[in-house]
This record gives sequence, structure tokens and C-alpha cells, in this order.
Amino acid sequence: MGKSQNLYRQARKIIPGGTQLLSKRPEMFLPELWPAYYQKAKGCQIWDLDGKRYIDMSIMCAGACILGYADNDVDKQVKKAIKNATAATLNCPEEVELAKLLCKIHPWADMVRYARTGGEAMSVAVRIARAKSGKDIILFCGYHGWHDWYLSSNLAYDKSLDGHLLPGLQPKGVPRGLKGTAIPFNYNNTDEFIRLIEKYRGRVAAVVMEPLRNHFPAKGFLETIRKITRKSNIVLIFDEITSGWRLTVGGAHLKLKVNPDICVFAKAISNGYPMAAIVGRKEVMDVMQDTFISSTYWSERIGPVAALATIAKIKEEDVCSHLVGIGEKVRRGWQLAAKKYNLKIVITGMNPLLHFSFKHSKPLVLKTLFTQEMLKKGFLATTSFYASFAHKPAIVAKYLKAVDSAFLFISKAVKQGNPAKCLKGPVCHSGFKRLA
Ligand SMILES: Cc1ncc(COP(=O)(O)O)c(C=O)c1O
Repeated sequence: MGKSQNLYRQARKIIPGGTQLLSKRPEMFLPELWPAYYQKAKGCQIWDLDGKRYIDMSIMCAGACILGYADNDVDKQVKKAIKNATAATLNCPEEVELAKLLCKIHPWADMVRYARTGGEAMSVAVRIARAKSGKDIILFCGYHGWHDWYLSSNLAYDKSLDGHLLPGLQPKGVPRGLKGTAIPFNYNNTDEFIRLIEKYRGRVAAVVMEPLRNHFPAKGFLETIRKITRKSNIVLIFDEITSGWRLTVGGAHLKLKVNPDICVFAKAISNGYPMAAIVGRKEVMDVMQDTFISSTYWSERIGPVAALATIAKIKEEDVCSHLVGIGEKVRRGWQLAAKKYNLKIVITGMNPLLHFSFKHSKPLVLKTLFTQEMLKKGFLATTSFYASFAHKPAIVAKYLKAVDSAFLFISKAVKQGNPAKCLKGPVCHSGFKRLA
């Protein structure tokens, strides 16, 4: 038991749920064995509290660190901002510079506001849509954070949010009065979407969705949603908190050629520094003058400075091409190793945000085994891989060698009939769950 695991035991007693972000809970990876805490990180390397070094081939801070950890170019600008004060009674000019840049990158947009986390920025977008339309209902698809507007979906039917990235989310503490205000639909199911639009005709404020995540849009899916929302005066909100800045400089919707009324960015826009942007058309955004949306730390300086530096580097270094290429190597590596050892896996996602699942009666056992075996070889790895600019081909080659032997190990364990016997600790969790 290393220092990191010991500290996590203490954390579970003093921090409800153990961590601040569900996706950083050790139980989501390798219960009782995951290193849990870092003392430092650089590029795609992380050192735990015992000084042990790992290569991070997992989620790179839940997708926030697109350039790699402690990126020199971004950090240089942030340090400069720190020297000149990151908070003051007056506003920082960088927020105007960033707004201009975001509108230039997204020519359909005219105005920008900021927040510092993805979920709160989505709440802002939903408030704008409700204020603009005077209506309450939100049709949504996918995961959008922890706020009341979203979790209220599970008041009507407590499995609504299953299948939307995180199963098991409880609506406890969400006012019952919100029941029936957030209605889920499934990605790429145009008929279902049209049925819901008919059912709630005249009552829908917004459609909230990621333009793509695990799958590319079916032909006509996004276009139909755009056509219907435009015709019915429904605000179309694209959540690009995770999809943005990976396929192209800006939102993935630029590639898909469908423009929303509001687009929300966070995470990768600022490479690990808290920042979120709500980018939209003037006609919609202007309603912010009529509803109160305001917060002290939304005015701090590090966020916009980090975002400007991150976007500049994404452009200059053609980071998106790098992410797509690295992801393609990993995708092919997974496919080859699975075929070689006769393991059935299903791979989903765009190249920069890849995911695979084992087709087996106990997929979580195999997933945990994979993480266990990869950790032994010095890799933080799970069934998702979020590519970063710090992942260079030589690292991917080493990783794929380790994947080859982990898959061999798993295939032997499967053949022996009881793969759970090879686990050194409990099976990983698959969604939100109370900790024992
Ligand atoms: C698509 C999407 N929306 C919203 C969020 C919530 O963002 P945050 O964790 O910064 O609140 C996430 C985070 O995983 C996300 O992937």
C-alpha cells in the first residue's frame, strides 16, 4: 500500500465520495490499487506520491489537457499574468481579446460570456434559452454536468440518464417542481426527436446536445434538428466541452457544417486551467441583459490568458491533425491486439477521444484486469484514451506493446474460465455509486 492509496483511505473519511470529480475516483479504474494522487505531471507523465512515474494513456484530466500537462507555452503566459495580478477591481482585457477570437473562429456567433467549469456554463446556456423563449422544457441528449436542470430528468423516470454517459445518477435534492422539464432523446434517432418535438409542441426552450461523441452523426440527423429548431424558435445549444478543439480549431460543429445558436466550451480550451465560454448569436445572447448571470471568479485572468495561449498553440502546431493521427494508431493497435488474442472488443468515438468495451459476460472484470496489467507496466490506462499533443508516436508504440501483453494475459484468463480470479482487488465501478 503506497502513500497515494493511504491518503485516499483518509480522503474517503473526510471528503464525501472521495474526490471532487467522479471520473477521478480510483474506483472508476482499479479499486484499492490505483495511485490516486499525483505530486507532479509533465507532458503525458505523472509521478505519484511515492515518486513512481507513469505514462498517462487514459483520460488526461478528463480531457482537459489537450496539449499535455504543464505545457511550457501556456504556463509561460499564465506565469506572466500571475506576476501582473490575476484579480483586481478592474476587468482583464484578455476577456475581450478572447471573445473577439472565439467569434472569428465561429463566424455564426456574435457574443461571448464566460464561466469557469463546463457544467455551470451549460446551466448558463440553459438559463439563456429559457429566458429568451419564456418556455421551460429542454430536450437533451448526452451528459451535461451535475446541475438541477439536467438531473431533474431523473425525477420523471430514474433511468432517464442511463445511457447518457453516466448511469446511476440520482435526482436527490433536485426540486420536484422541475419534474418533466428535461426530456432525453437518443443520439442519431431522428424519428424519436421528431416525436418529442410534436409531443411538446410550443413548450420547448432548447435542444441541448453534443454534435458528436461516441458516434458520428447519421446523414441528415443534425441538419433535421437544426431545421426544426430554427423553424420552431427553439434555441439549439451545442455542448462542445469535450468535443471541441480536437477535430478542428474550435467546435467540431465547424467540421460537421451545422451551426447552433449557442456553443459551450470548457476543458480543452485552456489546457487544464479553469475556463469555460458560452458563445452565441447576438439575438439569443443579448437576453443576458435581462436575467441575472454574474460571478466574481468568472472575471479572473488566468482562464482567458490560458485559453488564448492554448488556442494559439493548437493552431500553430496543427494539434488537431496530431490528435487524429495518434488516435488512429491507438485504434488500430487495439484492433490488432484484440484480433491476435481472439478478444471481442467494440471501439467507439472519434480518433482523439477513443473508447473500447469488451464483449464478454463480465466486461467490467476484463476492464479492471486491463488497467491492472497496464499499471504493472507503468501505464495509467483504461478503456478510454484521450489523445494529447504530448503523446508522441514512440510513446504510443511502447503503449501498444504493453497492450499486446495485457490482452494476451486477459485472453488466457478468459480461457481459464474465471477471469475475476486474476484480479488483485475489487472490480471497477461503471457509473455513479455510493462508496461503501
Ligand atoms: C459533454 C460534457 N458536458 C459537460 C461536462 C461537465 O463539465 P465540468 O466537469 O467541467 O463541469 C462534461 C464533463 O465531462 C462533458 O463531457
